[in-house]
Amino acid sequence: PTITYVQPDGTKQDLDVPAGKRIMQAAIGAGIDGIVAECGGQAMCATCHVYVDSAWADRLPPVGDDEDEMLEDTVCERTSESRLSCQVPVTDELDGLVVRLPETQV
Ligand code: FES
Repeated sequence: PTITYVQPDGTKQDLDVPAGKRIMQAAIGAGIDGIVAECGGQAMCATCHVYVDSAWADRLPPVGDDEDEMLEDTVCERTSESRLSCQVPVTDELDGLVVRLPETQV
């Protein structure tokens, strides 16, 4: 599946991500700016915050309890589109997904 990462200035980067990889892992692996992922994917840092367009919400796993708690600590404002990118595995259904990166993570 192809995932598009959009920087706050509108710059887009498309990545071909194998199913099963987390949205965070793919970004870190490709050196995409804007995702820090201090805790390495444990839902314990909130520095992998992204915004996922609500049109995709049905195809994402529900926000878990740990994720929900950490989303209260994001540096940029939490919205209804906020997710921790380490908690969202890429699936074939997510081909074409657009994730927007916040201004800052720390
Ligand atoms: Fe720390 Fe996602 S990498 S919460």
